[in-house]
Amino acid sequence: ALQRTLEGVHVAISAGGTREPLDPVRFIGNRSSGKQGYALARVAAQRGARVTLVAGNTADLATPAGVDLVRVGSAVELRDAMHKVAADADVVVMAAAVADFRPVSLSGHKIKKTSGDPDPISLTKNPDILAELVSARREGQVIVGFAAETGDETTSVLDYGRAKLQRKGCDLLVVNAVGDGKAFEQEDNAGWLLSKDGAETPIPHGPKTQVASAVWTRLPPACPSLSR
Ligand code: C5P
Repeated sequence: ALQRTLEGVHVAISAGGTREPLDPVRFIGNRSSGKQGYALARVAAQRGARVTLVAGNTADLATPAGVDLVRVGSAVELRDAMHKVAADADVVVMAAAVADFRPVSLSGHKIKKTSGDPDPISLTKNPDILAELVSARREGQVIVGFAAETGDETTSVLDYGRAKLQRKGCDLLVVNAVGDGKAFEQEDNAGWLLSKDGAETPIPHGPKTQVASAVWTRLPPACPSLSR
């Protein structure tokens, strides 16, 4: 049976990858498909939430029924859209793959081939949207982040996730392993759901809707006003 646990709740979700323009026709992008963010939106709508989905570049995905879609391109556009939507949201989920850097300058015309060596591309840091949203948090608002990690010799994926939860200051963080063909552009995902209160819930390997359900199921304890 469908649990309408999010009735009356407005959730804002970001999905997909940002594109950082170099000139009118070129950009720096990433391989995010948007599937995890869209799955979060679909499941939230099924559970009765009002859903605003802010999407960067994605695979060819159908907009889930009943979901308001806002399209953005660059990280700066995504930031502006998320601040606007978050001002009215009870829950904010940053599932988008935001570019860490953008080209310093945007050429007004198509960059021409040069006869000699090409000019290097200079980059500057993009804002950390999740950290900004945490700083601007409304009373009682729950903020959820994602962390796509690869472990290494000294630190596991889970430990990187724990550190990121602390650093970003969000309430919940979904940690998932990437690399070796995991997660990106895939139908399935797996990982852990880490909570500010120290709870750590493993999310078994399964469809991205299952990861989405784990997030929405965990919400009431994280957000007292939703424990009805
Ligand atoms: O630091 P890292 O990029 O691994 O953090 C991932 C989380 O932070 C995701 O929730 C992502 O959407 C968010 N993020 C952001 N702004 C950035 C980079 C990441 O909101 N510039």
